[in-house]
Amino acid sequence: MNPDLAQLHPYPFEKLTQLKVGATPPTELAHIALSIGEPKHPTPGFIVEAVIEHLHGLSHYPSTVGTIKLRQAIADWLSRRFQLNGHVDATRHILPVNGTREALFSFAQAIINPERAPLVVMPNPFYQIYEGAAFLAGAQPYYLNCNPDTNFIPDFDAVSPDVWERCQLLYLCSPSNPTGAVIDQATLIKLIDLAHQHDFLIASDECYSEIYLDEDKPPVGLLQAAMAAGHTDFSHCVVFHSLSKRSNAPGLRSGFVAGDARVLKEFLRYRTYHGSAMPPATQAASITAWQDEDHVIYNRQYYREKFAAVLAILSPVMNVEQPEAGFYLWAETPIDDTEFARQLFNEQNVTVLPGSYLARETQDGNPGKNRVRMALVASLEECTEAAHRIRKLIENL
Ligand SMILES: Cc1ncc(COP(=O)(O)O)c(C=O)c1O
Repeated sequence: MNPDLAQLHPYPFEKLTQLKVGATPPTELAHIALSIGEPKHPTPGFIVEAVIEHLHGLSHYPSTVGTIKLRQAIADWLSRRFQLNGHVDATRHILPVNGTREALFSFAQAIINPERAPLVVMPNPFYQIYEGAAFLAGAQPYYLNCNPDTNFIPDFDAVSPDVWERCQLLYLCSPSNPTGAVIDQATLIKLIDLAHQHDFLIASDECYSEIYLDEDKPPVGLLQAAMAAGHTDFSHCVVFHSLSKRSNAPGLRSGFVAGDARVLKEFLRYRTYHGSAMPPATQAASITAWQDEDHVIYNRQYYREKFAAVLAILSPVMNVEQPEAGFYLWAETPIDDTEFARQLFNEQNVTVLPGSYLARETQDGNPGKNRVRMALVASLEECTEAAHRIRKLIENL
Protein backbone atom coordinates (compact mmCIF):
# COMPACT_ATOMS: atom_id res chain seq x y z
CA MET A 1 0.00 0.00 0.00
CA ASN A 2 0.98 3.61 -0.40
CA PRO A 3 2.66 4.42 2.96
CA ASP A 4 1.37 8.01 2.81
CA LEU A 5 -2.16 6.68 3.37
CA ALA A 6 -1.16 6.08 6.98
CA GLN A 7 -0.62 9.83 7.42
CA LEU A 8 -4.29 10.65 6.76
CA HIS A 9 -6.11 11.84 9.87
CA PRO A 10 -9.56 10.54 10.78
CA TYR A 11 -12.22 12.84 9.36
CA PRO A 12 -13.76 15.28 11.93
CA PHE A 13 -17.10 13.46 11.66
CA GLU A 14 -15.50 10.14 12.66
CA LYS A 15 -14.24 11.83 15.83
CA LEU A 16 -17.66 13.37 16.39
CA THR A 17 -19.34 9.95 16.17
CA GLN A 18 -16.88 8.67 18.79
CA LEU A 19 -17.58 11.67 21.03
CA LYS A 20 -21.30 10.91 21.02
CA VAL A 21 -20.90 7.25 22.03
CA GLY A 22 -22.72 6.58 25.29
CA ALA A 23 -24.72 9.82 25.24
CA THR A 24 -28.44 9.60 25.93
CA PRO A 25 -30.12 12.66 24.37
CA PRO A 26 -33.69 13.42 25.52
CA THR A 27 -36.11 11.62 23.23
CA GLU A 28 -38.78 14.31 23.57
CA LEU A 29 -36.51 16.77 21.71
CA ALA A 30 -36.05 16.18 17.97
CA HIS A 31 -32.42 16.00 16.88
CA ILE A 32 -31.01 19.13 15.19
CA ALA A 33 -27.70 18.87 13.34
CA LEU A 34 -25.67 22.07 13.00
CA SER A 35 -22.58 19.98 12.42
CA ILE A 36 -22.62 19.21 8.71
CA GLY A 37 -21.81 21.83 6.08
CA GLU A 38 -24.34 20.51 3.61
CA PRO A 39 -26.79 23.10 2.24
CA LYS A 40 -30.38 22.20 3.05
CA HIS A 41 -32.28 24.86 1.10
CA PRO A 42 -34.08 23.22 -1.84
CA THR A 43 -32.20 22.85 -5.13
CA PRO A 44 -33.90 25.20 -7.63
CA GLY A 45 -36.42 23.29 -9.77
CA PHE A 46 -34.96 24.51 -13.07
CA ILE A 47 -31.60 22.86 -12.23
CA VAL A 48 -33.30 19.55 -11.41
CA GLU A 49 -35.37 19.75 -14.61
CA ALA A 50 -32.25 20.42 -16.69
CA VAL A 51 -30.65 17.23 -15.35
CA ILE A 52 -33.75 15.18 -16.22
CA GLU A 53 -34.11 16.74 -19.64
CA HIS A 54 -30.52 15.89 -20.59
CA LEU A 55 -30.34 12.30 -19.42
CA HIS A 56 -30.40 11.14 -23.04
CA GLY A 57 -26.76 12.30 -23.14
CA LEU A 58 -25.82 9.12 -21.23
CA SER A 59 -25.07 7.38 -24.50
CA HIS A 60 -21.93 9.52 -25.04
CA TYR A 61 -18.58 9.72 -23.31
CA PRO A 62 -18.10 13.35 -22.20
CA SER A 63 -14.70 14.95 -22.73
CA THR A 64 -12.61 15.88 -19.68
CA VAL A 65 -12.31 19.48 -20.84
CA GLY A 66 -16.12 19.85 -20.96
CA THR A 67 -18.28 21.42 -23.66
CA ILE A 68 -17.35 24.89 -24.85
CA LYS A 69 -20.90 25.93 -23.99
CA LEU A 70 -20.31 25.07 -20.34
CA ARG A 71 -16.88 26.68 -20.23
CA GLN A 72 -18.27 29.83 -21.85
CA ALA A 73 -21.15 30.01 -19.35
CA ILE A 74 -18.60 29.68 -16.53
CA ALA A 75 -16.24 32.26 -18.09
CA ASP A 76 -19.14 34.71 -18.45
CA TRP A 77 -20.19 34.22 -14.83
CA LEU A 78 -16.63 34.57 -13.55
CA SER A 79 -16.07 37.74 -15.59
CA ARG A 80 -19.34 39.28 -14.42
CA ARG A 81 -18.89 38.38 -10.78
CA PHE A 82 -15.23 39.42 -10.44
CA GLN A 83 -15.08 42.16 -13.12
CA LEU A 84 -12.47 40.34 -15.19
CA ASN A 85 -13.53 42.31 -18.27
CA GLY A 86 -12.71 40.16 -21.25
CA HIS A 87 -9.58 38.57 -19.78
CA VAL A 88 -11.11 35.13 -19.22
CA ASP A 89 -10.71 32.86 -22.22
CA ALA A 90 -13.13 29.92 -22.00
CA THR A 91 -10.77 27.74 -24.06
CA ARG A 92 -7.69 28.24 -21.85
CA HIS A 93 -8.67 29.51 -18.40
CA ILE A 94 -11.54 27.20 -17.35
CA LEU A 95 -11.89 23.49 -16.52
CA PRO A 96 -15.09 21.90 -15.18
CA VAL A 97 -14.66 19.66 -12.13
CA ASN A 98 -16.93 17.22 -10.32
CA GLY A 99 -17.24 19.38 -7.22
CA THR A 100 -14.30 21.27 -5.77
CA ARG A 101 -13.42 18.53 -3.31
CA GLU A 102 -11.99 16.18 -5.94
CA ALA A 103 -10.34 19.11 -7.72
CA LEU A 104 -8.69 20.54 -4.60
CA PHE A 105 -7.32 17.07 -3.93
CA SER A 106 -6.19 16.16 -7.45
CA PHE A 107 -4.65 19.58 -8.07
CA ALA A 108 -1.92 18.86 -5.51
CA GLN A 109 -1.29 15.43 -7.07
CA ALA A 110 -0.78 17.06 -10.46
CA ILE A 111 1.49 19.93 -9.48
CA ILE A 112 3.66 18.87 -6.52
CA ASN A 113 7.24 17.81 -7.19
CA PRO A 114 7.92 15.42 -4.27
CA GLU A 115 11.68 15.49 -4.81
CA ARG A 116 12.22 18.96 -3.39
CA ALA A 117 11.00 18.50 0.23
CA PRO A 118 7.83 20.36 -0.66
CA LEU A 119 5.58 22.23 1.74
CA VAL A 120 1.89 22.82 1.18
CA VAL A 121 0.93 25.89 3.19
CA MET A 122 -2.66 26.11 4.46
CA PRO A 123 -4.81 27.89 7.03
CA ASN A 124 -5.46 26.25 10.41
CA PRO A 125 -8.40 25.42 10.94
CA PHE A 126 -8.91 24.14 7.42
CA TYR A 127 -10.96 21.97 5.07
CA GLN A 128 -9.40 18.58 5.65
CA ILE A 129 -8.93 17.77 1.97
CA TYR A 130 -6.00 20.25 1.73
CA GLU A 131 -4.02 18.26 4.27
CA GLY A 132 -4.79 14.84 2.79
CA ALA A 133 -3.91 16.15 -0.67
CA ALA A 134 -0.54 17.35 0.64
CA PHE A 135 0.30 14.01 2.28
CA LEU A 136 -0.65 11.91 -0.73
CA ALA A 137 1.28 14.19 -3.08
CA GLY A 138 4.42 13.55 -1.02
CA ALA A 139 4.47 16.98 0.65
CA GLN A 140 4.30 18.18 4.23
CA PRO A 141 1.46 20.45 5.33
CA TYR A 142 2.51 23.74 6.95
CA TYR A 143 -0.27 25.21 9.11
CA LEU A 144 -0.93 28.93 9.54
CA ASN A 145 -3.10 29.61 12.58
CA CYS A 146 -6.19 31.79 12.15
CA ASN A 147 -6.78 33.67 15.39
CA PRO A 148 -9.32 36.29 16.45
CA ASP A 149 -6.62 38.98 16.93
CA THR A 150 -6.00 38.98 13.15
CA ASN A 151 -9.72 38.58 12.30
CA PHE A 152 -9.09 34.88 11.60
CA ILE A 153 -6.80 35.66 8.65
CA PRO A 154 -3.37 33.97 8.93
CA ASP A 155 -0.48 36.30 9.75
CA PHE A 156 1.24 35.80 6.39
CA ASP A 157 3.92 38.39 7.29
CA ALA A 158 5.16 36.11 10.05
CA VAL A 159 5.97 33.28 7.61
CA SER A 160 9.73 32.98 7.04
CA PRO A 161 11.26 33.23 3.55
CA ASP A 162 12.57 29.63 4.00
CA VAL A 163 8.99 28.39 4.25
CA TRP A 164 7.93 30.34 1.15
CA GLU A 165 11.00 28.96 -0.65
CA ARG A 166 9.97 25.36 0.08
CA CYS A 167 6.29 26.07 -0.52
CA GLN A 168 5.00 24.65 -3.79
CA LEU A 169 1.32 25.20 -3.12
CA LEU A 170 -0.60 27.64 -0.92
CA TYR A 171 -4.23 26.77 -0.22
CA LEU A 172 -6.43 29.71 0.67
CA CYS A 173 -10.01 29.39 1.81
CA SER A 174 -11.84 32.69 1.39
CA PRO A 175 -14.56 33.01 2.57
CA SER A 176 -13.29 30.60 5.17
CA ASN A 177 -14.79 27.38 6.36
CA PRO A 178 -15.16 27.52 9.36
CA THR A 179 -14.52 31.17 10.37
CA GLY A 180 -16.34 33.04 7.58
CA ALA A 181 -13.38 35.45 7.27
CA VAL A 182 -12.64 36.98 3.86
CA ILE A 183 -9.10 37.79 2.73
CA ASP A 184 -8.92 41.37 1.40
CA GLN A 185 -7.49 42.41 -1.95
CA ALA A 186 -4.30 43.97 -0.55
CA THR A 187 -3.41 40.72 1.22
CA LEU A 188 -4.17 38.68 -1.89
CA ILE A 189 -1.89 40.94 -3.96
CA LYS A 190 0.88 40.51 -1.39
CA LEU A 191 0.48 36.73 -1.65
CA ILE A 192 0.52 36.85 -5.45
CA ASP A 193 3.81 38.81 -5.26
CA LEU A 194 5.24 36.14 -2.94
CA ALA A 195 4.05 33.39 -5.31
CA HIS A 196 5.95 35.02 -8.18
CA GLN A 197 9.01 35.67 -6.05
CA HIS A 198 9.24 32.11 -4.67
CA ASP A 199 7.60 30.33 -7.59
CA PHE A 200 4.69 28.61 -5.88
CA LEU A 201 1.05 28.28 -6.92
CA ILE A 202 -1.95 29.65 -5.06
CA ALA A 203 -5.07 27.47 -4.99
CA SER A 204 -7.86 29.69 -3.72
CA ASP A 205 -10.90 27.75 -2.53
CA GLU A 206 -13.74 30.22 -3.10
CA CYS A 207 -16.65 27.82 -2.87
CA TYR A 208 -18.42 30.04 -0.27
CA SER A 209 -17.93 33.26 -2.28
CA GLU A 210 -21.64 33.59 -3.11
CA ILE A 211 -22.91 33.41 0.45
CA TYR A 212 -22.15 36.83 1.92
CA LEU A 213 -24.06 38.88 4.42
CA ASP A 214 -23.76 42.40 3.04
CA GLU A 215 -25.39 42.43 -0.39
CA ASP A 216 -23.21 45.43 -1.34
CA LYS A 217 -19.96 43.76 -0.35
CA PRO A 218 -19.32 40.55 -2.33
CA PRO A 219 -16.02 38.91 -1.33
CA VAL A 220 -13.10 39.72 -3.60
CA GLY A 221 -11.58 36.80 -5.53
CA LEU A 222 -7.97 35.82 -6.24
CA LEU A 223 -8.29 36.38 -10.00
CA GLN A 224 -9.71 39.84 -9.36
CA ALA A 225 -6.68 40.61 -7.19
CA ALA A 226 -4.36 39.23 -9.89
CA MET A 227 -5.95 41.60 -12.42
CA ALA A 228 -5.62 44.53 -10.03
CA ALA A 229 -1.92 43.70 -9.67
CA GLY A 230 -1.51 43.70 -13.46
CA HIS A 231 -1.30 39.91 -13.91
CA THR A 232 -3.93 39.65 -16.62
CA ASP A 233 -2.70 36.12 -17.44
CA PHE A 234 -3.53 35.08 -13.83
CA SER A 235 -0.08 33.53 -13.55
CA HIS A 236 0.48 31.42 -10.38
CA CYS A 237 -3.22 31.76 -9.49
CA VAL A 238 -5.99 29.18 -9.65
CA VAL A 239 -9.48 29.49 -8.12
CA PHE A 240 -12.01 26.78 -7.23
CA HIS A 241 -15.77 27.45 -7.42
CA SER A 242 -18.75 25.22 -6.83
CA LEU A 243 -22.49 25.01 -7.36
CA SER A 244 -22.87 23.04 -4.12
CA LYS A 245 -23.31 26.03 -1.80
CA ARG A 246 -24.15 28.73 -4.35
CA SER A 247 -27.04 26.81 -5.88
CA ASN A 248 -27.88 24.30 -3.11
CA ALA A 249 -26.84 21.45 -5.37
CA PRO A 250 -24.20 19.41 -3.50
CA GLY A 251 -25.48 16.21 -5.13
CA LEU A 252 -24.91 17.58 -8.62
CA ARG A 253 -21.12 17.47 -8.08
CA SER A 254 -20.34 20.46 -10.21
CA GLY A 255 -17.73 23.15 -9.97
CA PHE A 256 -14.84 24.59 -11.92
CA VAL A 257 -11.21 25.56 -11.72
CA ALA A 258 -10.04 28.77 -13.38
CA GLY A 259 -6.85 30.73 -13.77
CA ASP A 260 -3.27 30.29 -14.99
CA ALA A 261 -3.55 28.68 -18.47
CA ARG A 262 -0.09 27.10 -18.27
CA VAL A 263 -1.04 25.26 -15.08
CA LEU A 264 -4.54 24.31 -16.26
CA LYS A 265 -3.08 22.72 -19.40
CA GLU A 266 -1.05 20.33 -17.25
CA PHE A 267 -3.96 19.80 -14.84
CA LEU A 268 -6.15 18.83 -17.81
CA ARG A 269 -3.50 16.30 -18.89
CA TYR A 270 -3.55 14.84 -15.37
CA ARG A 271 -7.34 14.76 -15.28
CA THR A 272 -7.58 13.01 -18.63
CA TYR A 273 -5.59 10.10 -17.23
CA HIS A 274 -7.38 10.31 -13.89
CA GLY A 275 -10.74 9.98 -15.68
CA SER A 276 -12.75 12.82 -14.23
CA ALA A 277 -15.03 14.05 -17.01
CA MET A 278 -18.31 15.68 -15.97
CA PRO A 279 -21.45 13.73 -17.04
CA PRO A 280 -23.39 15.44 -19.89
CA ALA A 281 -26.58 16.02 -17.87
CA THR A 282 -24.53 17.66 -15.11
CA GLN A 283 -22.87 19.90 -17.68
CA ALA A 284 -26.25 20.96 -19.09
CA ALA A 285 -27.71 21.69 -15.64
CA SER A 286 -24.56 23.58 -14.65
CA ILE A 287 -24.92 25.92 -17.64
CA THR A 288 -28.39 26.99 -16.52
CA ALA A 289 -27.25 27.32 -12.90
CA TRP A 290 -24.29 29.60 -13.68
CA GLN A 291 -26.54 31.73 -15.91
CA ASP A 292 -29.08 32.48 -13.19
CA GLU A 293 -28.47 34.84 -10.28
CA ASP A 294 -32.00 35.23 -8.85
CA HIS A 295 -31.90 31.98 -6.90
CA VAL A 296 -28.51 32.94 -5.43
CA ILE A 297 -29.82 36.31 -4.23
CA TYR A 298 -32.78 34.58 -2.59
CA ASN A 299 -30.45 32.04 -0.99
CA ARG A 300 -28.32 34.78 0.59
CA GLN A 301 -31.41 36.51 1.94
CA TYR A 302 -32.52 33.34 3.71
CA TYR A 303 -29.09 32.87 5.33
CA ARG A 304 -29.20 36.51 6.50
CA GLU A 305 -32.52 35.91 8.24
CA LYS A 306 -31.09 32.86 10.00
CA PHE A 307 -27.94 34.66 11.15
CA ALA A 308 -30.04 37.54 12.54
CA ALA A 309 -32.40 35.21 14.43
CA VAL A 310 -29.71 32.95 15.86
CA LEU A 311 -27.34 35.75 16.85
CA ALA A 312 -30.12 37.59 18.68
CA ILE A 313 -30.55 34.51 20.88
CA LEU A 314 -26.89 33.55 21.32
CA SER A 315 -24.89 36.78 21.52
CA PRO A 316 -26.11 37.66 25.03
CA VAL A 317 -24.69 34.38 26.38
CA MET A 318 -21.64 33.57 24.25
CA ASN A 319 -18.86 35.22 22.29
CA VAL A 320 -20.12 34.80 18.75
CA GLU A 321 -20.10 37.24 15.86
CA GLN A 322 -21.74 37.49 12.48
CA PRO A 323 -19.16 36.40 9.88
CA GLU A 324 -18.55 38.32 6.66
CA ALA A 325 -19.56 35.31 4.57
CA GLY A 326 -20.29 31.59 4.52
CA PHE A 327 -23.00 29.83 6.52
CA TYR A 328 -21.10 29.01 9.71
CA LEU A 329 -20.89 30.53 13.16
CA TRP A 330 -17.45 30.06 14.75
CA ALA A 331 -18.45 30.52 18.37
CA GLU A 332 -16.32 30.56 21.49
CA THR A 333 -17.37 27.99 24.09
CA PRO A 334 -17.45 28.73 27.83
CA ILE A 335 -15.95 25.27 28.51
CA ASP A 336 -13.74 22.88 26.51
CA ASP A 337 -15.18 22.55 22.98
CA THR A 338 -15.43 18.76 22.94
CA GLU A 339 -17.12 18.74 26.34
CA PHE A 340 -19.48 21.50 25.20
CA ALA A 341 -20.44 19.53 22.08
CA ARG A 342 -20.92 16.34 24.10
CA GLN A 343 -23.11 18.02 26.73
CA LEU A 344 -25.13 19.85 24.08
CA PHE A 345 -25.92 16.56 22.37
CA ASN A 346 -26.54 14.71 25.61
CA GLU A 347 -28.81 17.32 27.15
CA GLN A 348 -30.39 19.18 24.22
CA ASN A 349 -30.08 16.77 21.25
CA VAL A 350 -28.24 19.35 19.16
CA THR A 351 -25.04 18.43 17.31
CA VAL A 352 -22.27 20.96 16.66
CA LEU A 353 -18.70 20.29 15.54
CA PRO A 354 -15.89 20.85 18.07
CA GLY A 355 -13.47 23.42 16.65
CA SER A 356 -10.41 21.47 17.74
CA TYR A 357 -11.45 18.69 15.30
CA LEU A 358 -11.08 21.15 12.41
CA ALA A 359 -7.57 22.31 13.28
CA ARG A 360 -4.18 20.84 14.18
CA GLU A 361 -2.08 21.34 17.24
CA THR A 362 0.85 23.68 16.51
CA GLN A 363 3.54 25.20 18.73
CA ASP A 364 1.06 28.03 19.35
CA GLY A 365 -1.71 25.59 20.30
CA ASN A 366 -4.82 24.43 18.50
CA PRO A 367 -6.66 27.49 17.11
CA GLY A 368 -9.95 25.58 17.09
CA LYS A 369 -9.81 24.88 20.81
CA ASN A 370 -12.75 26.24 22.78
CA ARG A 371 -14.70 27.00 19.66
CA VAL A 372 -17.47 25.16 17.87
CA ARG A 373 -18.67 25.35 14.29
CA MET A 374 -22.40 25.71 13.79
CA ALA A 375 -23.70 25.39 10.23
CA LEU A 376 -26.92 27.36 9.76
CA VAL A 377 -28.10 25.09 6.99
CA ALA A 378 -31.40 23.85 8.42
CA SER A 379 -34.65 25.85 8.26
CA LEU A 380 -35.07 29.14 10.13
CA GLU A 381 -37.37 27.37 12.62
CA GLU A 382 -34.84 24.60 13.33
CA CYS A 383 -31.89 26.99 13.60
CA THR A 384 -33.86 29.20 16.01
CA GLU A 385 -34.91 26.21 18.10
CA ALA A 386 -31.29 24.98 18.20
CA ALA A 387 -30.13 28.43 19.33
CA HIS A 388 -32.65 28.44 22.21
CA ARG A 389 -31.43 25.02 23.32
CA ILE A 390 -27.75 26.08 23.13
CA ARG A 391 -28.58 29.14 25.23
CA LYS A 392 -30.35 26.97 27.75
CA LEU A 393 -27.33 24.70 28.04
CA ILE A 394 -25.01 27.68 28.61
CA GLU A 395 -27.32 29.24 31.18
CA ASN A 396 -27.36 25.97 33.11
CA LEU A 397 -23.59 25.35 33.03
C1 LIG B 1 -14.02 24.84 2.24
C2 LIG B 1 -14.65 23.83 1.35
N1 LIG B 1 -14.09 23.60 0.16
C3 LIG B 1 -14.60 22.68 -0.69
C4 LIG B 1 -15.72 21.96 -0.36
C5 LIG B 1 -16.22 20.92 -1.32
O1 LIG B 1 -17.38 21.27 -1.92
P1 LIG B 1 -17.87 20.59 -3.28
O2 LIG B 1 -16.98 19.42 -3.56
O3 LIG B 1 -19.27 20.19 -3.04
O4 LIG B 1 -17.72 21.64 -4.34
C6 LIG B 1 -16.34 22.16 0.88
C7 LIG B 1 -17.53 21.36 1.26
O5 LIG B 1 -18.03 21.36 2.32
C8 LIG B 1 -15.79 23.12 1.75
O6 LIG B 1 -16.34 23.37 2.95
